[in-house]
Amino acid sequence: EKGGYDYFMLKEIAEQPKAVADTLLGRIDGSGALHLDEVRIAPSVLREVDKVVVVACGTAYHAGMIAKYAIEHWTRLPCETELASEFRYRDPILDQRTLVIAISQSGETMDTLMALRHAREQGAKVLAICNTNGSTIPRESDAVLYTHAGPEVAVASTKAFLTQLVACYLVALYLGQTRGTKWGDEIRTVVRQLSEVPGHVERVLETMEPVRALARSLAHKNTVLFLGRHVGYPVALEGALKLKELAYMHAEGFAAGELKHGPIALIEDDLPVVVVVPSPRGRSVLHEKIVSNIQEIRARGARTIVIAEEGDEAVVPYADHLIWIPAAPTLLQPLVATVPLQVFACELATARGNEVDQPRNLAKSVTVE
Ligand code: F6R
Repeated sequence: EKGGYDYFMLKEIAEQPKAVADTLLGRIDGSGALHLDEVRIAPSVLREVDKVVVVACGTAYHAGMIAKYAIEHWTRLPCETELASEFRYRDPILDQRTLVIAISQSGETMDTLMALRHAREQGAKVLAICNTNGSTIPRESDAVLYTHAGPEVAVASTKAFLTQLVACYLVALYLGQTRGTKWGDEIRTVVRQLSEVPGHVERVLETMEPVRALARSLAHKNTVLFLGRHVGYPVALEGALKLKELAYMHAEGFAAGELKHGPIALIEDDLPVVVVVPSPRGRSVLHEKIVSNIQEIRARGARTIVIAEEGDEAVVPYADHLIWIPAAPTLLQPLVATVPLQVFACELATARGNEVDQPRNLAKSVTVE
């Protein structure tokens, strides 16, 4: 049942190109138009929406953080992303014009379920993004967009995360299409770029041997830090979460711009720091800023592990280890940048003798609050 792999997690990492392709299947056509008729919230209702709130936990929350960038960019609607467990105890301001997006692999996470119940009581419309047919969260939502990752068995989420991202991009683009903002060339271009992602992920997976070797060489370390900016920031958080849960290491993700507000004090000689670098072809200011962040930490002794787009020569002088990923547009980059971090955490867990599929103290579906 593990299909020749030692762990379900390895199998599920390898299934990601297919999971992404399956989640796109039937939802985009050859001309680059989106077909999300399954989202049964009337277009007239979607046109009235004046605010989007995304709620989720754990890895799904990281997907939701990335959704915020995509929704704001493609719809120009204000969007907040919040941990479900914080949202519901805060008396959030919601009404009939609020669209709440609840993201959950299992569809059974209690905090996310309670958040969506609260939102519906306030009159908000709830759209679930879920991987499990007929589970509680989609049953209690106004509409659902299923991710087609297939069953995820390993406790640590991998392929579900990538498909959650795809679903978030589709929703953001669909909202843009329905509301008439940015519809046209840009959406068609992005849809085409999304359809290229399975091939990119396949290529990343073929080049992971150096990442595994690096992970094994760091098995004795206590701490690994992760830095990112913009959508690379949630990717950094996700890389750190994978490492905590699988390798039981102290791992923390930071927004790179926050370094000098505190975290840079943690940098010491030979401390591994993974940096997610945005595409140099995208917003150049983002790229320049992160290159200077890499220089700053390296000058203080950090061992820099740099994830950058193929051909990004600017990072080469400051990288102790380079992990190349295929070129993708800035907003879509998390779909490729996350994959090496999954492999890294899985290999570190193995090297430390941990149980990869069943990390200590964790359950696949968290049905208690
Ligand atoms: C981390 C992980 C968890 C889940 C979280 C939400 O690898 O798997 O953080 O993402 O418990 O679970 P779902 O998506 O089922 O609501």
